[in-house]
Amino acid sequence: MSLDHRIAVVTGASSGIGAATARLLAARGAKVALLARRLDRLDALAQEIKSAGGEALAVAADITDPATLAAAAGRIGATYGTTDLVVSNAGVMLPSAIQARNTADWRREVDVNVSGVLNVVDAFLPGLLDAAGAGRPADLITMSSMTSHVVFPYMAVYNATKAAVSHLSRTMRTELGPQGVRVSVVEPAMTATELQGHVTDEGVNAWVAQAREAFAWLDPHDVAEVVAFTASRPAHVNLSQVVVYPTRQT
Ligand SMILES: NC(=O)c1ccc[n+]([C@@H]2O[C@H](COP(=O)([O-])OP(=O)(O)OC[C@H]3O[C@@H](n4cnc5c(N)ncnc54)[C@H](OP(=O)(O)O)[C@@H]3O)[C@@H](O)[C@H]2O)c1
Repeated sequence: MSLDHRIAVVTGASSGIGAATARLLAARGAKVALLARRLDRLDALAQEIKSAGGEALAVAADITDPATLAAAAGRIGATYGTTDLVVSNAGVMLPSAIQARNTADWRREVDVNVSGVLNVVDAFLPGLLDAAGAGRPADLITMSSMTSHVVFPYMAVYNATKAAVSHLSRTMRTELGPQGVRVSVVEPAMTATELQGHVTDEGVNAWVAQAREAFAWLDPHDVAEVVAFTASRPAHVNLSQVVVYPTRQT
């Protein structure tokens, strides 16, 4: 399970699944670049990781802005060397009725969840290919959602963005696998993070509240364990897709 000598970047590391993943990758020996917009959160996590004996670098960047991502990739490369483990985790969920036509929210979900992921791929893929070419393990792990497989009301745009991430990942694998880069997509179900805190639709909030009562949600660490396990397989083993449910969620 060791990730010694790995150089990782985790997007969306300022909270939830990304923060838990960064913490765990560092605990397993990786040098971890923490990427998100809230630098104060990243600085605090970097400090926590260093106090526990790990290595972490806080890098503020907005994944919808290719220029800041390129600068971030340059800074991570200059500090740690070539990134060989990319966890593209940052995302937003802003559900509402489709007939409410919340076009600003639609656009933000597409910008962050789809275009943002492509920007991350653009910024870090050259390093992954270099690492694989040098015989090192190389991983591109995307955070999609079980919602990429199911349909239910108010989630049309979010679910479509996550279906895009899953299919993008599966398809990229057909090109990158033969070059030694593993591509994996993790698809969690209900996980207790800040994600649901951005929901303004009353109907969705009522559903979320009853779901909290109905079953025990995943902890972000549960999902982080899947990411760390995936990245620590032998280089010839690619766990390509993992769906993670709370046991009592159907
Ligand atoms: N929680 C769940 O039930 C669940 C289920 C399935 C899938 N997921 C997926 O898991 C991933 C992580 O979500 P989470 O549940 O951990 O939610 P979260 O606690 O809200 O974390 C989201 C992260 O994304 C970052 N982010 C948002 N917009 C960004 C941008 N433009 N540039 C850079 N970073 C940005 C946020 O950081 P800043 O605000 O500091 O930028 C934050 O660190 C998401 O892709 C989500 O869709 C979550």
